[in-house]
Amino acid sequence: MTDRADLGFVHRFIPAEDPNRTPLLLLHGTGADENDLLPLGRELAPGAALLSPRGKVLEQGMPRFFRRVGEGVFDVDDLNARTKELAEFVTKARAAYKLAKPIALGFSNGANIAWSLLLSDPEALAGAVLIRAMLPFTPDAVPRLDGKPVLLLSGSADPIISADQRDRLVKVLKDAGANLQYEVVPAGHRLTQQDLQIAAEWLSRY
Ligand code: MLT
Repeated sequence: MTDRADLGFVHRFIPAEDPNRTPLLLLHGTGADENDLLPLGRELAPGAALLSPRGKVLEQGMPRFFRRVGEGVFDVDDLNARTKELAEFVTKARAAYKLAKPIALGFSNGANIAWSLLLSDPEALAGAVLIRAMLPFTPDAVPRLDGKPVLLLSGSADPIISADQRDRLVKVLKDAGANLQYEVVPAGHRLTQQDLQIAAEWLSRY
């Protein structure tokens, strides 16, 4: 099957080889693109369908999923508008490719739009793996996420994400009733082998 050009985002779609696996919605970090996380998706969820859009915002030529005013300072209006656009893409792509509800797997900027999607449209996702996510503001309203499986992987020495910004996200997810597994690995902002092991094990359960 070829990647459809009419779904609103440039993207890659890899059909499932194992129909029993939940599809993954791969959301890349700043400066990457729709190809970046495909190898990770294949490694962490062998045989799962992979849906991987490219963020539409360009920051000095680097693709992202929403605008930011500075490091860790989000343009919240843009985040909300882009989250809605992403939700529409997921709906259209699920219909076009006949996909079950996906689990989002996001890294950094991609993890941030993944939690935004989860909080604005909890029914869009079956769950989420959030790698190096941050919540730098207090969200207005938080829906119920009762039992929604979420894995949050943070780095203890992440130079980009403060402990406050991690803790706020943990609190919001817990208060919403998500089934949260929260792990702080001895790492900075980059992915480590330990992140991959924890994520693969978590994904094998869903
Ligand atoms: C963001 O803007 O989403 C965060 O600063 C993460 C990043 O993209 O570096």
